[in-house]
Amino acid sequence: MKTSLHWAAIHGLPRAYLKTQARRGDPFARIMTDRRAQANPYLLADRIREQGRVVRTPYTWVTADHGVVRDVLRSTDFGVIVPAELDVPRPMRALIRATDPRLPNPIEPPAMLSLDPPAHTRYRKLVAQEFTPRAVRRLTDRIDEVTGELLAALGTRQRADLITDFAVELPAAIISEMLGIPRDVRRRMLAAGEAGAALLDTGISWRAYRRAQAALLDAREFLDEHLDLLRAEPGDNILSALVAGGQLTKRELMYTTALLAGAGFETTVNLIGNGVVALHEHPDQLDLLTAEPGLWPGAIEEILRYDSPVQWTARKALRDIEVGGRRISRGAVITLLLGGANRDPEIFTDPNTFDITRSNAREHVSFSSGVHACLGATLARTEGTIALRALHEQFPTLRIESAPPRRELVNLRGYAHIPALLGSRTRSMV
Ligand code: HEM
Repeated sequence: MKTSLHWAAIHGLPRAYLKTQARRGDPFARIMTDRRAQANPYLLADRIREQGRVVRTPYTWVTADHGVVRDVLRSTDFGVIVPAELDVPRPMRALIRATDPRLPNPIEPPAMLSLDPPAHTRYRKLVAQEFTPRAVRRLTDRIDEVTGELLAALGTRQRADLITDFAVELPAAIISEMLGIPRDVRRRMLAAGEAGAALLDTGISWRAYRRAQAALLDAREFLDEHLDLLRAEPGDNILSALVAGGQLTKRELMYTTALLAGAGFETTVNLIGNGVVALHEHPDQLDLLTAEPGLWPGAIEEILRYDSPVQWTARKALRDIEVGGRRISRGAVITLLLGGANRDPEIFTDPNTFDITRSNAREHVSFSSGVHACLGATLARTEGTIALRALHEQFPTLRIESAPPRRELVNLRGYAHIPALLGSRTRSMV
């Protein structure tokens, strides 16, 4: 009962409302709830941008304007939103709070993603040093090695699903090792991430919500055991250090771990998958990379810009404020279409063209900006570059066999499967 009330308040009512709006053709509501719109949400983002830099919809304010997105993300006049503080009538807020299942949901406090400074700063500081470019450089050999092992395993086969056999396995292995999550728990972690990812969407179905709750319940169980184990037998990993440091309660540790683990593989899988598909839809760009491998880092930025693995985030105005020429009142929510901003023609010439030599591709906002700018950006870039380069160098005749289906998610944009014919394998890079 409590669970269904929580779902109804956070997802059920917005879902019913957005679906009605979507049927009336509203582009924002269509992005959020219309499966057909997922073929190309960027067309709808263009329509929103044409309506204005900041557009009022009956649900939230919304923007696909690159400048506005960046300004809001960097502004101290905006804060993060959490369900219990949504701009909804007070009884509804009380209901949301009272029915909160308090599971380790990576997008709810005390996960850093859902806190404003100074609380946010405290959590972020505790782990930031593990994700600096220097720290990630130390991981490069291991990323090469795991990539080599995964590709070697594929080398014995003719066909593979490049998502389940490759794209998800690399980031999952690396973040598990960083967190000291043992191999036997990794499948449960993957299942929790997969089902829990739906919680990043707005207006999800009761079925998806129940699945996500069950996954988080299981995550709470295995994290509980795992943290006890690390307290008794610490290893050389981030979580052991956090446990030993004694600055976080068990609940804080659980939410932090859930965020690092989920963010660590649920997004990078999409960078790799979206990259494979974009490159195969644009073989001339793949030829350029074959001729000049030095172009790979730029190609990764263009993949991030062209088909952003995280499509949107949102912020709440902390005071009455003008943004993009519109006056927004305190407490109002603005949805920032990151993928849409990456197609803003004011910033990117021919934004719908996939061009790996684009000089300003790195100006994309796929990793957000401001205090919540992605902590794992360097790690994701490194994993994406190594994975995509090694895959194409070792399987130069790789072909996608049939149209890859998208995941049933809106915010985390990626493919559920990429069925591929591998062709013969050339030399190993590692
Ligand atoms: C291509 C892969 C990735 C993309 C596109 C991505 C995207 C993002 C975005 C958009 C945000 C901020 C959301 C907001 O401002 O509301 C974020 C935050 C975050 N990301 Fe990533 N991410 C990726 C990979 C990773 C990896 C590998 C990790 C490693 C653990 C990671 C850890 C985090 C964390 C901890 C935060 C919260 C930061 C904070 O609140 O201060 N991400 N990411």
